[in-house]
Amino acid sequence: MKVFFKPTNRSSKAGSKENLLEVATRADVHINASCGGQGTCGKCKVLVEDGKVKTKSTGNLTNKEIANGYVLACQSEVVTDLVVDVPLESELISKGRTKINTLVSSNDYIEKQLRGLSVNPLVVKKYVELDPPSLADSVSDQVRLQRALRPHLQGRKLSFSNTSLRQLAKVVRQGDWKVTASLFLEDGVYRLIKTEVGDTSNEHYAFALDLGTTTCVLKLVDLVSKKVIAEASAYNGQISCGEDVISRMVYAKKGNGLEILQHRATETIDKLIRRVLRRAKITAEKVSLLVVAGNTVMTHLLFGISPEHIRETPYIPVFRFPPVVIGKEIGLNQAADVRVVAFPCVASYLGGDITSGIVASDLLSGRELSLYIDIGTNGEIVLGNSEWLLGCSCSAGPAFEGAGVKDGVRSIDGAIERVIIEKDSYETVFETINSKMPVGICGSGLIDLLAEMFMAGVVDKRGKMNRDLGIDRIRKGDYGWEFVVAWGNVTAKGRDIVITEVDVDNLMRAKAAVYAGITTLVDSVGLKLSNIDQILIAGSFGNYIRIQEAVTIGLLPDLPAEKFKFVGNGSLLGSTKAAIDSGFLRRAEEISKNISYQELSADNKFMDRYVSALFLPHTNETLFPSVKSRQELQRVS
Ligand code: FES
Repeated sequence: MKVFFKPTNRSSKAGSKENLLEVATRADVHINASCGGQGTCGKCKVLVEDGKVKTKSTGNLTNKEIANGYVLACQSEVVTDLVVDVPLESELISKGRTKINTLVSSNDYIEKQLRGLSVNPLVVKKYVELDPPSLADSVSDQVRLQRALRPHLQGRKLSFSNTSLRQLAKVVRQGDWKVTASLFLEDGVYRLIKTEVGDTSNEHYAFALDLGTTTCVLKLVDLVSKKVIAEASAYNGQISCGEDVISRMVYAKKGNGLEILQHRATETIDKLIRRVLRRAKITAEKVSLLVVAGNTVMTHLLFGISPEHIRETPYIPVFRFPPVVIGKEIGLNQAADVRVVAFPCVASYLGGDITSGIVASDLLSGRELSLYIDIGTNGEIVLGNSEWLLGCSCSAGPAFEGAGVKDGVRSIDGAIERVIIEKDSYETVFETINSKMPVGICGSGLIDLLAEMFMAGVVDKRGKMNRDLGIDRIRKGDYGWEFVVAWGNVTAKGRDIVITEVDVDNLMRAKAAVYAGITTLVDSVGLKLSNIDQILIAGSFGNYIRIQEAVTIGLLPDLPAEKFKFVGNGSLLGSTKAAIDSGFLRRAEEISKNISYQELSADNKFMDRYVSALFLPHTNETLFPSVKSRQELQRVS
């Protein structure tokens, strides 16, 4: 049986009992699958235009949608040849703010950060000239090379990989005994990983990867000039197996789920490697190192290690310090011979993306009190300074990533990212990514929208719609009370884009979890929010948050605006820095060993704070004086 997918015009064969989501993934058609195929999120809705499927469940599809031929891809087995249309809202479009970039290196923020680093990579290249053999000097090629390298080893031992020995005789002779050796420093011993003909010490490159649950970003770094020479990003191919780490862990437990997830990750990395090498016009053999920063679950999956115990109490990962492997050992084809090194994790929900971000940011440089926040499905929070660090992770849920929200979408073209509700008329003014017709609302748009709805009186402090306002935009829909953000005549779908009371509830739970996590950490060391000198906001989503709106809904504490700083993608910055200077990896190991991790799920005080934060902005309004004064100002104007 063959399934043809529109509008991408891709097709794939379907096996017996295979569901449409699995077939789509194989055809490289990325369908939104928030719940990982459980049939509960309804995001994988597709239209069967021709042919027959056997449907197990229709989930939350409306009767009208079912009558029109819509099915849930994850719940529909292929019975005959099919023509399937993937609607815009179900498709994962790798455009918008996640598009591939080639950098203008001199102006790039990261480049500025890299300039001051000392070059001290885990793989070093040494050019040596060997004494040619003679009857008087008939030692082996191995000893001859060892002898030539001795002055470069700082007293360390040298070991040889089997691959390096296999090519040694040919390379030294081809190079007329002038060769460049690549040495990998592991546990205090140099390991020869390859030799090249002649002097190639000026061609020395590494990959730096942010292995995100949603998006993966790869940089190709020139280790001689300390410059990023190409960058590419793409959705993590695992996304069709579940949108967040919990659904990925569930998927990993099914049949050969773990294998599939590892393969999807390496496939994504291979794709990115191909792109950066093509852009930089460099061959893979010139690259010797891949530094990875990812959360604990992503790191486990990349190494093919089951993360199943992470989601069960007492939430234990298999490892905190990932092994060093060679690319091919984990299934990388494009970088089969590179050494793969990953940032260490702290705990199940505080991973290498955070240790990477911490070492890359200013958090450790002084005695001032810093708060590092990475908001995603989990709010990962670290408090401290150069002397101590305390961390926690709170399950915010995927609402800020557009999941669990009826018209929520990722940061794709057409996502509403800014909203204003006009006073008195309650008309909305919005901006979309790349000025495309609206397809839904992304995380930063949702924060704006909730803040505007609260300030305009569309919702009260409990998040309930004000039914008495008497405006068309507030109405009862199929999913309960809702507010119309964009009327159907201006949207890409041709139907109204709304936010429901249930959506508001999900957003309030997410923001309450983050705020309660922050206050629990601060309180546990006997400090106050006002003692915080700087708040570093990390994560690609963080870059697009408007601080005032995030404070208005009670997501971030009400502190002076100048205390907030955006660090961008801290995880990527850390892996890039570590590619050039391995000292960053050593520091991350120290952090991983020394950080105190607070488990919030067993903390009653956290639960109390969470419940208090389930209001806009909070039960205790005095904690948010700036919101109150803006409300008063609005009332008198
Ligand atoms: Fe199909 Fe969630 S309902 S992936």
